[in-house]
Amino acid sequence: MLSFGIIIFMVNKAIDYYSFITIEKQMMEKADLSELSFREVLAQHRSSTGEPQTQEIVRLALEKLKASGKEVRIYDSSKQLLGLAVDGIIIMDGKPHIFEQNIEKALGGNYVYTVTEDHLLYFSTPIQDQYYQNAYVYEFVEDISYFYAIMDQIRYILFAGAGGFIVLITLSSLWIARSTTKPIKMLLGAAQSFSRQEFRRVHLNRKDELGMLADGLDSMGRQLHDYIQYQKQFVSNVSHELKTPLAAIRGFSQYLYEGETENKELQKIYAHLLQESDRLTRLINELLLLSRFDKEGSNELEARKTEMNKLVQQVATSLGAKAKDKGIEILFKEAEAEPGDKLLTSVHANVNPMLMSHAIANLVDNAIKYSGSSSLIELKLEHTPSEVVIQIRDQGIGIAGDELEKVQERFYRAKNANTANGSGLGLSICKEIVERFNGYIDLESQIGKGTTVTIVLPRA
Ligand SMILES: Nc1ncnc2c1ncn2[C@@H]1O[C@H](COP(=O)(O)OP(=O)(O)O)[C@@H](O)[C@H]1O
Ligand SMILES: [Mg+2]
Repeated sequence: MLSFGIIIFMVNKAIDYYSFITIEKQMMEKADLSELSFREVLAQHRSSTGEPQTQEIVRLALEKLKASGKEVRIYDSSKQLLGLAVDGIIIMDGKPHIFEQNIEKALGGNYVYTVTEDHLLYFSTPIQDQYYQNAYVYEFVEDISYFYAIMDQIRYILFAGAGGFIVLITLSSLWIARSTTKPIKMLLGAAQSFSRQEFRRVHLNRKDELGMLADGLDSMGRQLHDYIQYQKQFVSNVSHELKTPLAAIRGFSQYLYEGETENKELQKIYAHLLQESDRLTRLINELLLLSRFDKEGSNELEARKTEMNKLVQQVATSLGAKAKDKGIEILFKEAEAEPGDKLLTSVHANVNPMLMSHAIANLVDNAIKYSGSSSLIELKLEHTPSEVVIQIRDQGIGIAGDELEKVQERFYRAKNANTANGSGLGLSICKEIVERFNGYIDLESQIGKGTTVTIVLPRA
């Protein structure tokens, strides 16, 4: 708009400038012709009388010029008005001149002009006598209002055209903006859902660069989807294949360990073997669980209305012994009855009890694993009218703030976790389980102080 405004301004100025140049040219031609005719008069007069008589000369000159404009004035070299012709009538003793300076400059040898407010042009030009002296000045007065009218008309056309053009440009740029931002937003949305591993078809019904981009994104999405599926399938297959030999190894290790009573050195080795195969078995089981989640449309892990107090209590009990071994106490605080509710509280959620127990056990297991001896683990159940909240609070080593997000990813273990063994899959499995039942997990932690994991589920 701004550049357009500047262009209009310049064009306007140019029109003014070139129009006046045209007028000047016209006037100069007229001045030349007048000079010629004046010389003619001079020559004729001299040849007829010998002695030049100014009055007569002026009258003759005016006679020739009187029809050539609105008004013609002739001055002598002392700026005295010699005579004038108004609308074709010659007046020999007219009023004095108006633009004295113009006459002065003309006597200096230059043409000069002034335009008055009522669009009258006063054009003064020097006239030379027989000795080539600037002895006289012609002043032509022209009404140039017709010329202003034309300029106004040109300007009007220009502005109208420009206005139309601006409207057109604005409308078309709005249209272009809309027709490009919408598909770009769509592509952005697709890219964002790809990054969440949600793949869908991307298609734009257009042949331009955006259409090509959409096609590229689409094929990328499909390849990524296939690749991830392949990867998951691969892990699942390998886990399956490992399960049987691992069971055999564990069985034989157990057999060897129990059979060896004399050689302490060998016993230690067998115990280690047993421990490691247990660890591997756990890892394989977790991987298999994850691959069961990944299988789309599997409904073997169905949800049903489950009483959560009992479920959490069971988990606390089952892990009590393990905690005690480390000198840790698990404190279970069940959900309290709502005020005025005389019945025993029962808080329900729609979950698969096996999976949910697994998730909570995993979190309690972490709390035990990442706590020092003789500390306390609080297991608390609360509820609101719409939610069930399960909290696992420990006094352990804690997780650094910048790792809180990452520990929920598969295979990620925090930097201070190397004291305890693990695969880094536990939390990601919990997250998937809780999200499967439309809940979410929240982690709060402070290094050296402890960690609180909160599971929030919709109440059934
Ligand atoms: N209660 C906790 N206290 C401190 N760190 C924890 C706790 N729970 C989880 N973490 C950190 O999160 C990481 C991921 O946990 P998880 O997925 O259960 O894997 P794993 O326990 O097998 O290492 C752990 O390696 C540990 O660094
Ligand atoms: Mg764990």
